[in-house]
Amino acid sequence: MRLALVGATGAVGSVMLEQLRERSFPADEIVPFASARSAGRELDGGLVVHELTEESIRGFDLAIFSAGGAASREWAPRFAEAGTVVVDNSSAWRMHDDVPLVVSEVNSDDLAWHDGIVANPNCSTMQMVVALKPLHEAAGIERLVVSTYQSVSGTGMKAIEELRRQARAVLDGEPLGAPRVYAHPIAFNVLPHAGSFADGDDHTDEERKLMSETRKILGDDAIRVSATCVRVPVVFGHSEAVNVQTRRPLEPGEARALLAAAPGVTVLDDPGSAVYPIPTAAAGRDDVFVGRIRRDPSHDSALDLWVVSDNIRKGAATNAVQLAELLVERGLLHGRAGAQAA
Ligand code: A2P
Repeated sequence: MRLALVGATGAVGSVMLEQLRERSFPADEIVPFASARSAGRELDGGLVVHELTEESIRGFDLAIFSAGGAASREWAPRFAEAGTVVVDNSSAWRMHDDVPLVVSEVNSDDLAWHDGIVANPNCSTMQMVVALKPLHEAAGIERLVVSTYQSVSGTGMKAIEELRRQARAVLDGEPLGAPRVYAHPIAFNVLPHAGSFADGDDHTDEERKLMSETRKILGDDAIRVSATCVRVPVVFGHSEAVNVQTRRPLEPGEARALLAAAPGVTVLDDPGSAVYPIPTAAAGRDDVFVGRIRRDPSHDSALDLWVVSDNIRKGAATNAVQLAELLVERGLLHGRAGAQAA
Protein backbone atom coordinates (compact mmCIF):
# COMPACT_ATOMS: atom_id res chain seq x y z
CA MET A 1 0.00 0.00 0.00
CA ARG A 2 1.49 3.33 -1.13
CA LEU A 3 -0.01 6.56 0.17
CA ALA A 4 0.57 10.07 -1.22
CA LEU A 5 0.15 12.97 1.22
CA VAL A 6 -0.32 16.18 -0.78
CA GLY A 7 0.25 19.39 1.20
CA ALA A 8 2.40 17.56 3.74
CA THR A 9 4.24 20.72 4.84
CA GLY A 10 1.03 22.64 5.67
CA ALA A 11 -0.86 23.25 8.92
CA VAL A 12 -3.27 20.35 8.23
CA GLY A 13 -0.91 18.14 6.20
CA SER A 14 1.70 17.99 8.96
CA VAL A 15 -0.95 16.83 11.46
CA MET A 16 -2.20 14.28 8.91
CA LEU A 17 1.29 12.80 8.81
CA GLU A 18 1.38 12.66 12.63
CA GLN A 19 -2.04 11.02 12.70
CA LEU A 20 -1.11 8.41 10.08
CA ARG A 21 1.84 7.46 12.27
CA GLU A 22 0.02 7.64 15.64
CA ARG A 23 -2.88 5.53 14.36
CA SER A 24 -0.47 3.03 12.70
CA PHE A 25 -2.09 3.46 9.30
CA PRO A 26 -1.28 0.30 7.29
CA ALA A 27 0.81 1.97 4.55
CA ASP A 28 4.08 0.41 3.39
CA GLU A 29 5.18 3.76 2.06
CA ILE A 30 4.05 7.36 2.62
CA VAL A 31 5.28 9.89 0.07
CA PRO A 32 4.88 13.58 1.05
CA PHE A 33 4.13 16.13 -1.69
CA ALA A 34 4.04 19.93 -1.52
CA SER A 35 4.66 22.83 -3.89
CA ALA A 36 7.84 23.03 -5.98
CA ARG A 37 9.21 25.45 -3.34
CA SER A 38 9.44 22.60 -0.81
CA ALA A 39 10.71 19.83 -3.11
CA GLY A 40 13.72 18.09 -1.55
CA ARG A 41 12.95 19.34 1.96
CA GLU A 42 13.31 16.69 4.67
CA LEU A 43 10.41 16.41 7.14
CA ASP A 44 10.61 15.23 10.77
CA GLY A 45 11.13 11.50 10.54
CA GLY A 46 13.26 11.78 7.41
CA LEU A 47 10.66 11.67 4.61
CA VAL A 48 11.65 13.83 1.63
CA VAL A 49 9.09 16.15 0.00
CA HIS A 50 8.30 15.61 -3.69
CA GLU A 51 6.82 17.83 -6.36
CA LEU A 52 3.66 16.76 -8.20
CA THR A 53 4.46 15.63 -11.75
CA GLU A 54 2.86 13.15 -14.16
CA GLU A 55 5.62 10.66 -13.27
CA SER A 56 5.79 11.24 -9.50
CA ILE A 57 2.05 10.58 -8.94
CA ARG A 58 2.08 7.07 -10.40
CA GLY A 59 1.52 3.87 -8.44
CA PHE A 60 -0.42 5.03 -5.36
CA ASP A 61 -3.37 3.21 -3.79
CA LEU A 62 -4.52 6.22 -1.82
CA ALA A 63 -3.86 9.97 -1.79
CA ILE A 64 -4.83 12.40 0.94
CA PHE A 65 -4.91 16.04 -0.19
CA SER A 66 -4.74 19.20 1.90
CA ALA A 67 -3.04 21.64 -0.44
CA GLY A 68 -5.85 24.08 -1.27
CA GLY A 69 -8.57 24.09 -3.91
CA ALA A 70 -6.38 24.89 -6.92
CA ALA A 71 -4.04 21.93 -6.35
CA SER A 72 -7.02 19.61 -5.73
CA ARG A 73 -8.86 20.75 -8.86
CA GLU A 74 -5.77 20.14 -10.96
CA TRP A 75 -4.29 17.00 -9.39
CA ALA A 76 -7.04 14.99 -7.65
CA PRO A 77 -8.63 13.92 -11.00
CA ARG A 78 -5.18 12.92 -12.30
CA PHE A 79 -4.63 10.65 -9.30
CA ALA A 80 -8.17 9.26 -9.71
CA GLU A 81 -7.60 8.60 -13.42
CA ALA A 82 -4.45 6.67 -12.49
CA GLY A 83 -6.53 4.42 -10.17
CA THR A 84 -5.69 6.12 -6.86
CA VAL A 85 -8.55 6.84 -4.45
CA VAL A 86 -8.32 10.46 -3.25
CA VAL A 87 -9.51 11.82 0.11
CA ASP A 88 -9.63 15.55 -0.52
CA ASN A 89 -9.72 18.16 2.24
CA SER A 90 -10.31 21.16 -0.04
CA SER A 91 -13.71 22.56 -1.01
CA ALA A 92 -13.07 21.84 -4.71
CA TRP A 93 -15.13 18.62 -4.99
CA ARG A 94 -17.39 18.64 -1.95
CA MET A 95 -20.64 19.59 -3.65
CA HIS A 96 -20.15 17.48 -6.81
CA ASP A 97 -22.98 14.95 -7.17
CA ASP A 98 -20.62 12.02 -7.78
CA VAL A 99 -18.36 12.85 -4.81
CA PRO A 100 -19.43 11.64 -1.37
CA LEU A 101 -18.92 14.19 1.44
CA VAL A 102 -18.28 12.10 4.50
CA VAL A 103 -17.89 12.44 8.29
CA SER A 104 -16.83 9.10 9.74
CA GLU A 105 -19.36 9.07 12.62
CA VAL A 106 -22.22 10.50 10.55
CA ASN A 107 -22.52 9.08 7.02
CA SER A 108 -19.71 6.60 6.39
CA ASP A 109 -22.08 4.46 4.23
CA ASP A 110 -21.71 7.15 1.55
CA LEU A 111 -18.08 6.03 1.02
CA ALA A 112 -19.42 3.03 -0.91
CA TRP A 113 -20.50 5.09 -3.94
CA HIS A 114 -17.25 7.01 -4.50
CA ASP A 115 -15.91 7.26 -8.04
CA GLY A 116 -12.26 7.93 -7.18
CA ILE A 117 -12.66 11.06 -5.02
CA VAL A 118 -14.08 11.35 -1.49
CA ALA A 119 -14.42 14.83 0.03
CA ASN A 120 -13.58 15.77 3.62
CA PRO A 121 -15.99 18.47 4.87
CA ASN A 122 -15.26 22.02 5.93
CA CYS A 123 -13.99 22.20 9.53
CA SER A 124 -16.86 24.20 11.03
CA THR A 125 -19.42 21.94 9.32
CA MET A 126 -17.59 18.79 10.43
CA GLN A 127 -17.76 19.42 14.17
CA MET A 128 -21.33 20.72 13.99
CA VAL A 129 -22.75 17.65 12.19
CA VAL A 130 -21.03 15.23 14.58
CA ALA A 131 -23.05 16.90 17.36
CA LEU A 132 -26.23 17.26 15.30
CA LYS A 133 -26.47 13.71 13.92
CA PRO A 134 -27.94 12.08 17.09
CA LEU A 135 -30.40 14.97 17.53
CA HIS A 136 -31.45 14.76 13.86
CA GLU A 137 -32.04 11.01 14.13
CA ALA A 138 -34.10 11.40 17.29
CA ALA A 139 -36.15 14.48 16.56
CA GLY A 140 -35.58 15.70 12.97
CA ILE A 141 -33.79 19.03 12.57
CA GLU A 142 -35.85 21.76 10.91
CA ARG A 143 -33.69 24.85 11.27
CA LEU A 144 -30.26 25.88 12.57
CA VAL A 145 -28.96 29.31 13.53
CA VAL A 146 -25.17 29.16 13.92
CA SER A 147 -22.53 31.67 14.96
CA THR A 148 -18.94 30.47 14.74
CA TYR A 149 -15.82 31.64 16.58
CA GLN A 150 -13.10 30.27 14.31
CA SER A 151 -9.39 29.99 15.07
CA VAL A 152 -6.72 31.25 12.70
CA SER A 153 -5.16 27.82 12.06
CA GLY A 154 -8.07 27.11 9.70
CA THR A 155 -6.49 29.64 7.34
CA GLY A 156 -3.08 27.91 7.43
CA MET A 157 0.44 28.46 8.74
CA LYS A 158 0.64 32.06 7.48
CA ALA A 159 -2.36 33.07 9.59
CA ILE A 160 -0.88 31.52 12.76
CA GLU A 161 2.31 33.50 12.11
CA GLU A 162 0.29 36.69 11.50
CA LEU A 163 -1.61 36.39 14.80
CA ARG A 164 1.63 35.76 16.73
CA ARG A 165 3.45 38.62 15.01
CA GLN A 166 0.62 41.10 15.58
CA ALA A 167 0.07 40.00 19.21
CA ARG A 168 3.78 40.49 19.94
CA ALA A 169 3.71 43.93 18.30
CA VAL A 170 0.67 45.05 20.34
CA LEU A 171 2.22 43.86 23.62
CA ASP A 172 5.55 45.53 22.78
CA GLY A 173 3.83 48.77 21.76
CA GLU A 174 5.28 48.43 18.24
CA PRO A 175 3.45 49.36 15.00
CA LEU A 176 1.35 46.44 13.69
CA GLY A 177 2.23 46.84 10.03
CA ALA A 178 -0.25 46.09 7.26
CA PRO A 179 -2.24 42.85 7.70
CA ARG A 180 -1.13 40.22 5.17
CA VAL A 181 -3.65 37.41 5.64
CA TYR A 182 -6.90 39.01 6.88
CA ALA A 183 -8.52 42.30 5.88
CA HIS A 184 -7.92 43.75 9.36
CA PRO A 185 -5.65 43.01 12.32
CA ILE A 186 -6.69 39.73 13.99
CA ALA A 187 -4.75 40.17 17.27
CA PHE A 188 -7.05 41.38 20.08
CA ASN A 189 -9.87 41.63 17.53
CA VAL A 190 -12.94 39.82 16.13
CA LEU A 191 -13.66 39.75 12.39
CA PRO A 192 -17.17 38.92 11.08
CA HIS A 193 -15.47 37.65 7.95
CA ALA A 194 -14.38 33.99 8.08
CA GLY A 195 -13.94 32.91 4.47
CA SER A 196 -14.34 35.34 1.59
CA PHE A 197 -17.11 37.36 -0.04
CA ALA A 198 -17.48 36.45 -3.71
CA ASP A 199 -19.37 38.26 -6.49
CA GLY A 200 -21.36 40.63 -4.31
CA ASP A 201 -22.64 37.79 -2.09
CA ASP A 202 -23.69 39.02 1.37
CA HIS A 203 -22.52 35.71 2.94
CA THR A 204 -18.95 34.40 3.01
CA ASP A 205 -18.09 31.15 1.24
CA GLU A 206 -17.53 29.66 4.71
CA GLU A 207 -21.15 30.50 5.65
CA ARG A 208 -22.39 29.00 2.35
CA LYS A 209 -20.37 25.83 3.06
CA LEU A 210 -22.01 25.46 6.49
CA MET A 211 -25.42 25.64 4.81
CA SER A 212 -24.88 23.36 1.82
CA GLU A 213 -22.48 20.82 3.35
CA THR A 214 -24.71 20.31 6.42
CA ARG A 215 -27.65 19.40 4.16
CA LYS A 216 -25.54 17.05 2.01
CA ILE A 217 -23.94 15.21 4.97
CA LEU A 218 -27.19 14.83 6.92
CA GLY A 219 -28.94 13.86 3.65
CA ASP A 220 -31.80 16.31 4.17
CA ASP A 221 -32.29 19.23 1.77
CA ALA A 222 -35.13 20.62 3.87
CA ILE A 223 -32.89 21.72 6.77
CA ARG A 224 -32.74 25.53 6.86
CA VAL A 225 -29.47 27.08 8.06
CA SER A 226 -28.60 30.64 9.01
CA ALA A 227 -24.88 31.18 9.63
CA THR A 228 -22.49 33.93 10.70
CA CYS A 229 -18.83 32.88 10.57
CA VAL A 230 -16.44 34.91 12.69
CA ARG A 231 -12.62 34.79 12.96
CA VAL A 232 -11.24 35.18 16.49
CA PRO A 233 -7.66 35.43 17.82
CA VAL A 234 -7.46 31.76 18.87
CA VAL A 235 -4.76 29.49 17.40
CA PHE A 236 -6.43 26.06 17.52
CA GLY A 237 -10.11 25.12 17.98
CA HIS A 238 -13.34 26.41 16.51
CA SER A 239 -16.28 27.21 18.79
CA GLU A 240 -19.90 27.41 17.67
CA ALA A 241 -23.11 28.67 19.26
CA VAL A 242 -25.80 26.53 17.62
CA ASN A 243 -29.55 27.04 17.93
CA VAL A 244 -31.28 23.81 16.88
CA GLN A 245 -34.99 23.73 16.07
CA THR A 246 -36.39 20.21 15.82
CA ARG A 247 -39.66 18.77 14.46
CA ARG A 248 -40.33 17.00 17.77
CA PRO A 249 -39.45 19.01 20.89
CA LEU A 250 -36.38 17.65 22.70
CA GLU A 251 -35.78 18.15 26.41
CA PRO A 252 -32.24 19.31 27.26
CA GLY A 253 -31.81 16.17 29.38
CA GLU A 254 -32.75 13.91 26.46
CA ALA A 255 -30.39 15.80 24.15
CA ARG A 256 -27.61 15.50 26.74
CA ALA A 257 -28.15 11.71 26.97
CA LEU A 258 -28.22 11.32 23.17
CA LEU A 259 -25.02 13.34 22.83
CA ALA A 260 -23.27 11.47 25.67
CA ALA A 261 -23.94 8.19 23.80
CA ALA A 262 -22.88 9.51 20.37
CA PRO A 263 -19.57 8.39 18.83
CA GLY A 264 -16.89 11.09 18.74
CA VAL A 265 -18.76 13.37 21.18
CA THR A 266 -17.81 14.32 24.75
CA VAL A 267 -20.39 16.23 26.78
CA LEU A 268 -18.97 18.84 29.18
CA ASP A 269 -22.00 20.49 30.71
CA ASP A 270 -21.89 21.75 34.28
CA PRO A 271 -21.89 25.50 33.74
CA GLY A 272 -22.35 26.30 37.46
CA SER A 273 -18.91 24.80 38.04
CA ALA A 274 -17.51 26.49 34.91
CA VAL A 275 -17.51 23.16 33.03
CA TYR A 276 -18.13 23.70 29.33
CA PRO A 277 -16.01 23.22 26.19
CA ILE A 278 -13.25 25.76 25.47
CA PRO A 279 -10.84 25.75 22.51
CA THR A 280 -7.60 25.69 24.53
CA ALA A 281 -8.76 22.44 26.17
CA ALA A 282 -10.03 20.91 22.91
CA ALA A 283 -6.75 21.63 21.07
CA GLY A 284 -4.79 18.49 20.25
CA ARG A 285 -7.79 16.20 20.92
CA ASP A 286 -9.96 14.33 18.44
CA ASP A 287 -13.44 14.60 19.97
CA VAL A 288 -16.19 17.13 19.43
CA PHE A 289 -17.03 18.71 22.80
CA VAL A 290 -20.59 19.87 23.54
CA GLY A 291 -21.93 21.88 26.47
CA ARG A 292 -24.30 24.69 27.50
CA ILE A 293 -27.16 22.40 26.40
CA ARG A 294 -30.31 24.32 27.25
CA ARG A 295 -33.81 25.17 26.12
CA ASP A 296 -34.18 28.21 23.89
CA PRO A 297 -36.68 30.25 25.94
CA SER A 298 -37.96 31.94 22.76
CA HIS A 299 -39.10 28.73 21.03
CA ASP A 300 -40.96 25.57 22.15
CA SER A 301 -38.91 23.13 20.10
CA ALA A 302 -35.46 24.68 20.01
CA LEU A 303 -32.30 24.05 22.01
CA ASP A 304 -29.07 26.00 22.32
CA LEU A 305 -25.69 24.23 22.25
CA TRP A 306 -22.03 25.25 22.43
CA VAL A 307 -19.83 23.02 20.25
CA VAL A 308 -16.02 23.09 20.27
CA SER A 309 -13.46 20.97 18.43
CA ASP A 310 -9.86 21.17 17.22
CA ASN A 311 -10.38 22.33 13.64
CA ILE A 312 -7.10 20.83 12.48
CA ARG A 313 -7.75 17.42 14.14
CA LYS A 314 -11.41 16.28 13.84
CA GLY A 315 -12.16 19.31 11.67
CA ALA A 316 -9.65 18.19 9.04
CA ALA A 317 -6.77 15.74 9.57
CA THR A 318 -8.39 13.19 11.89
CA ASN A 319 -11.51 12.78 9.78
CA ALA A 320 -9.45 12.45 6.58
CA VAL A 321 -7.34 9.70 8.16
CA GLN A 322 -10.48 8.01 9.55
CA LEU A 323 -11.95 8.02 6.02
CA ALA A 324 -8.74 6.50 4.65
CA GLU A 325 -8.93 3.78 7.35
CA LEU A 326 -12.56 3.02 6.48
CA LEU A 327 -11.76 2.84 2.74
CA VAL A 328 -9.10 0.22 3.54
CA GLU A 329 -11.24 -1.73 6.04
CA ARG A 330 -14.23 -1.87 3.69
CA GLY A 331 -12.21 -2.85 0.61
CA LEU A 332 -13.15 0.38 -1.19
CA LEU A 333 -9.67 1.17 -2.55
CA HIS A 334 -10.57 0.52 -6.13
CA GLY A 335 -10.08 3.66 -8.14
CA ARG A 336 -11.26 4.14 -11.70
CA ALA A 337 -8.33 2.25 -13.26
CA GLY A 338 -8.81 -0.64 -10.81
CA ALA A 339 -12.54 -0.79 -11.55
CA GLN A 340 -11.83 -0.91 -15.29
CA ALA A 341 -9.24 -3.66 -14.90
CA ALA A 342 -11.54 -5.78 -12.67
P1 A2P B 1 4.40 24.51 0.43
O1 A2P B 1 4.76 24.35 1.89
O2 A2P B 1 5.50 24.05 -0.47
O3 A2P B 1 3.88 25.87 0.10
P2 A2P B 1 -1.23 25.69 4.57
O4 A2P B 1 -2.68 25.30 4.55
O5 A2P B 1 -0.62 25.60 5.92
O6 A2P B 1 -1.01 27.02 3.90
O7 A2P B 1 -0.45 24.59 3.66
C1 A2P B 1 -0.73 24.38 2.30
C2 A2P B 1 -0.01 23.13 1.82
O8 A2P B 1 -0.28 22.93 0.42
C3 A2P B 1 1.51 23.22 1.91
O9 A2P B 1 2.02 21.93 2.13
C4 A2P B 1 1.87 23.72 0.52
O10 A2P B 1 3.21 23.45 0.15
C5 A2P B 1 0.92 22.90 -0.30
N1 A2P B 1 0.68 23.45 -1.65
C6 A2P B 1 0.26 24.70 -1.97
N2 A2P B 1 0.13 24.81 -3.31
C7 A2P B 1 0.47 23.61 -3.85
C8 A2P B 1 0.53 23.08 -5.18
N3 A2P B 1 0.21 23.80 -6.24
N4 A2P B 1 0.93 21.79 -5.34
C9 A2P B 1 1.24 21.03 -4.26
N5 A2P B 1 1.20 21.47 -2.98
C10 A2P B 1 0.82 22.75 -2.77
